[in-house]
Amino acid sequence: MTPALRPIAEAEAHPGAPPEQGPDQGSEGIVMTEQVFNGVAAIARREAGLALNPARSGMVRSRLMRRLRALGINDFGVYLAYVSSPDGQEELRQMISALTTNVTNFFRESHHFDTLRDRALPPLMTRAASGGRVRLWSAGCSAGQEPYSMAMTILGLDPDAPNRDIRILASDIDDAILSTARAGIYDRAALEPLDPRQRSTCFHPRPDGMAEVAPALRALVRFRPLNLHAPWPMSQKFDVIFCRNVLIYFDAETQAALLRRFAAALAPEGWLFLGHSERVGPGEQSLFRRDGVTTFRPSNGARF
Ligand SMILES: C[S@@+](CC[C@H](N)C(=O)[O-])C[C@H]1O[C@@H](n2cnc3c(N)ncnc32)[C@H](O)[C@@H]1O
Repeated sequence: MTPALRPIAEAEAHPGAPPEQGPDQGSEGIVMTEQVFNGVAAIARREAGLALNPARSGMVRSRLMRRLRALGINDFGVYLAYVSSPDGQEELRQMISALTTNVTNFFRESHHFDTLRDRALPPLMTRAASGGRVRLWSAGCSAGQEPYSMAMTILGLDPDAPNRDIRILASDIDDAILSTARAGIYDRAALEPLDPRQRSTCFHPRPDGMAEVAPALRALVRFRPLNLHAPWPMSQKFDVIFCRNVLIYFDAETQAALLRRFAAALAPEGWLFLGHSERVGPGEQSLFRRDGVTTFRPSNGARF
């Protein structure tokens, strides 16, 4: 079993992360008891593999308060019973969505995109140019910046890429954030990590001051809801998998199981990119070899 990974950069934003201050007892007098917290944590673990830290129960409470207000419920016990009932299955999805953290950015951890451009993509683009199929996956894509950054990297190498058999699967458990990703509309500040050429060719300015992804980017990306902690519908192998800043929210067992599934889903010469504070634990090291910072390839018999 891999040791639990400790969230670092996103510690402020996720209820699984270490506390910054003591538990919030609730400014509206609605108290989340330890028993209810444990019930919510058990559901989050079962449904999505999320590991909620009891020391962050104040954050869990404030995120779920929004749901209670939306439903007109003023008792966490009633809410817990509702999400556990057959009628509460849609609300269960909303609850998981409220508990996930969606922090992301264009070209976040930019060294991964350098590796993608300089090492992973060149042979794949050659394959695509001669009619072959190339598949990439942004697993836990949040609001779309990661898969669109992958698409921009591809277009930088081959502007004709949308006419080839190259696709990026962009998946997330959170339907609301997937809608944002699909819309592909960002404020100008979000585009700061892009170079001027990417800004002008990959985005179109809108009258409201926002910028919208260009059709060439959209053509490369397919957004799909997918729970990494549940069975996956895809059977094809991926040449490249980005699963960054997602594992940190899972318990050790879920992390290990996911790494084993990624190993099975990767093409023999494939690439797996993890987030800056994520590691392949000892139990899965025989499946991968390290090939750069938080960058892994199938071991194919080689040592970690
Ligand atoms: C912090 S964001 C990371 C976004 C992007 N990969 C990056 O590094 O910028 C984590 C994403 O993982 C998603 N997520 C959490 N649990 C998940 C699960 N069980 N299955 C699929 N996605 C999940 C969340 O909804 C969230 O959008």
